[in-house]
Amino acid sequence: MRRKIVAGNWKMNKSLSQGLQLVDEILSASTSTEVLKIIAPPFTHLTAIAEILKSKADFAVAAQDCHHLPSGAYTGEVTAEMVASTGAKYVIIGHSERRLYAGETNDILIQKLNRALAANLIPIFCIGESIEERNAKTHLEAIRAQIKEALFHLSPNDFGKIIIAYEPVWAIGTGVTATSYQAQGVHDFIRTEINKKYGKEISENISILYGGSCNAQNAKELFACADIDGGLIGGASLKSSDFTAITNSF
Ligand code: 13P
Repeated sequence: MRRKIVAGNWKMNKSLSQGLQLVDEILSASTSTEVLKIIAPPFTHLTAIAEILKSKADFAVAAQDCHHLPSGAYTGEVTAEMVASTGAKYVIIGHSERRLYAGETNDILIQKLNRALAANLIPIFCIGESIEERNAKTHLEAIRAQIKEALFHLSPNDFGKIIIAYEPVWAIGTGVTATSYQAQGVHDFIRTEINKKYGKEISENISILYGGSCNAQNAKELFACADIDGGLIGGASLKSSDFTAITNSF
């Protein structure tokens, strides 16, 4: 059975002390152990937060990115191996903000995925259409291309390890969430494409998260959909009460 997951992508928010306080509040408020809670703070906080969460089976830590090369003269960059050495077990790859602001192409994303898997990190791979693609009703083709071009080189064994996050770009940070009908439609499409390529067992077992203005008010309806296994949460993951309410929305 696939796992229910709520991941909080803090993006470029919270000082170390603010982050530690937020983790402390989330731990105190957390009641269910059934849902895996993944915290994705900035790189600078990974070691400290991983240390706090290491004995909790229902918590894990993710980096928000990793570099596509194993080492070298790349000032300011962090490799997958370095991420793994902090105690983080997951890494977000292909977030639309990185595709946009850091110009990350499929070629780079493929290398990042391979580096992450080689370092025993579980990639949370983000895909999602633009508003133009949604309006032109080409969003499913865009999603198919993103999966095919960046993920379908993976062996069944490696593909079986990853998590996918569907984040329509028009819903990120806008307050406009996809309706549960829209989100379920795309999640079902993604699972069907995976089934065609990797078969029933892998497609049924992969967790597909929804992201994009998911909050304490709309999470329940989204998570009730057959193919939505949880959420990748931005803004609402920065407040312990909101994040906890979302983790209790299954
Ligand atoms: P928001 O929840 O702030 O829309 O961000 C979603 C996101 O990008 C998570 O990775």
